[in-house]
Amino acid sequence: MKKSVKYTGTAVDILMYAIMLVQMVYVFTGNVIHELLGAGFFLCLIIHMAIKRKYLPSIPKLRGKSAVRRFSDAVIILLMLSSAALMVSSMDVSRTLLPQVSIIGSAGLHTYLATAVLALSVLHGGMHGYARTKKKKRAALFIALGCVAAIAVGLALVPYLNRHYKTVRIDYSEAISGDKVELHGEKPLVVYFTRLGNTDFNDDADAVSGASLLLADGELMGSDQLIADMISNAVDCDVRAITLTGEKYPSGYGDTVSAAGKELRQNARPPIEDIDIRGYDKIILVYPLWWGRVPMPVATFLEGADFSGKDIYLIATQGSSGYGSSVEDVRKMAAGAEVHKVMSIYCDDIPYSRERIGSWLKELAEE
Ligand SMILES: Cc1cc2nc3c(=O)[nH]c(=O)nc-3n(C[C@H](O)[C@H](O)[C@H](O)COP(=O)(O)O)c2cc1C
Repeated sequence: MKKSVKYTGTAVDILMYAIMLVQMVYVFTGNVIHELLGAGFFLCLIIHMAIKRKYLPSIPKLRGKSAVRRFSDAVIILLMLSSAALMVSSMDVSRTLLPQVSIIGSAGLHTYLATAVLALSVLHGGMHGYARTKKKKRAALFIALGCVAAIAVGLALVPYLNRHYKTVRIDYSEAISGDKVELHGEKPLVVYFTRLGNTDFNDDADAVSGASLLLADGELMGSDQLIADMISNAVDCDVRAITLTGEKYPSGYGDTVSAAGKELRQNARPPIEDIDIRGYDKIILVYPLWWGRVPMPVATFLEGADFSGKDIYLIATQGSSGYGSSVEDVRKMAAGAEVHKVMSIYCDDIPYSRERIGSWLKELAEE
């Protein structure tokens, strides 16, 4: 290989690793830079593949290859597949470069794919070093540690940064508006719990920016409240917020996490304003996952009313944990109710969930 091509290849590889790391802290870079860097990454990937094009045809062949070489080639195949999936999901979640493309629109899936590409890239780069070095054991250890670190960055650091440092600015009416749906029978009651309204914030939005909140047309808003507003934009329903009557949560995100952890350990039932559910057969419960469970004020609500014979539809929001054990929580707490899992929305996806919610409501209307 010509020296200039080799140097270009090395520079492109280093650039790709650097871009991947910067992409993981997109909470700080913002969406536009994230998308531009993403496009740059895929350009580098194409250059990388063009430089290595002579090697590519040998990858699927198994004969005459050592176990290490087979493993290394399997990693390349997985890396190509996950990179292709990442490229599709990047277009899918793009809001600046390709806003018109929408398939699933899941930022959660995008983060998992990016984590897979990062970990496999570490493995792929590491295998090159492994093939060259005589200190195989040490190389294997470094590669394993690198992969664990890459997975930890994607699955722990990114959600952590998202929860602690992200305030998303949204256009409120655009976020909540969409197709209208007509439900048969009694109108449902939407009950939601959110940090806002249950937290000692002062009125200065900037003072709490970076606290995992939405700024809807400049006004602070809880994510789960926005979901409730999306539902009430789509169907005729009543909406009630679960509101603490006693001590509220502290304004700091980390402090709220600690306070909620303490409540959970004590199995506390913080007092809330009364919500009358009589007269409603269908209750749509919108709640954030706290410590993988329903927040304790939601437990107060569920245990404080008679749900027998009612349908409860669960919409959870979360930073990575799916439903956690919240579905089992609700089944135990709301005795006699029929509990339905509807959707668990990744926090980044919340402002863009109107269509998904509308589709579910259409299904509900047809039941
Ligand atoms: C006290 C607390 C605990 C949390 N625990 C989890 C968790 O265990 N798993 C998870 O995926 N997200 C967790 N999160 C993130 C929230 O689920 C996410 O921020 C929420 O869905 C946003 O809704 P909100 O703005 O209406 O509060 C936690 C957030 C807080 C404040």
